[in-house]
Amino acid sequence: MIRKASVWDIPRINELGSLLNDNFSSVNHLNDMLEDGLSIILVYEKDDKIIGFISATDLGETCDILSLVVDPKYRNKMVASNLIDYLISELSEDLKLITLEVASKNIPAINLYEKFGFEVVNVRRNYYPDGDDAYLMARKSE
Ligand SMILES: CC(C)(COP(=O)(O)OP(=O)(O)OC[C@H]1O[C@@H](n2cnc3c(N)ncnc32)[C@H](O)[C@@H]1OP(=O)(O)O)[C@@H](O)C(=O)NCCC(=O)NCCS
Repeated sequence: MIRKASVWDIPRINELGSLLNDNFSSVNHLNDMLEDGLSIILVYEKDDKIIGFISATDLGETCDILSLVVDPKYRNKMVASNLIDYLISELSEDLKLITLEVASKNIPAINLYEKFGFEVVNVRRNYYPDGDDAYLMARKSE
């Protein structure tokens, strides 16, 4: 089941987020995001356990995906795909563009986003602490 996150979900979202970034909880202020009226945080729940989440900033005509993480035990089961589908269904009819940033070495994520029609539109060289480049990817709405 996919649903909007609540304050009770924050510890588990931070736990999953730390798989993406050691500083996840200090750079993503989930409490504030739940109340700012612009952020969307969706969780995928299975047997009362959160096994994945996606967060994004929804500005109406544009939306920026901030984070997407699936529990390693549940990967390759379409959890992320379902989260992206659900997110898109929540966005405004005025939506023109969805953007995101991903490490150029993150092949699973790049494949996933390409499957959803995202294309690399810019490269930020040496963007990550390990020297990896960041791809800025974008998906135009039809
Ligand atoms: C990237 C991630 C979110 C994918 O989640 P997932 O639920 O396993 O993805 P799905 O099962 O929906 O996969 C859909 C598509 O993604 C791509 N994909 C997913 N895992 C892949 C892998 N290990 N290798 C290559 N492609 C992969 C494939 O195109 C796949 O489609 P297919 O099954 O038809 O080949 C997950 O691997 C993850 O949490 N990674 C760590 C965090 C991260 O990197 N997040 C993204 C950056 S913000």
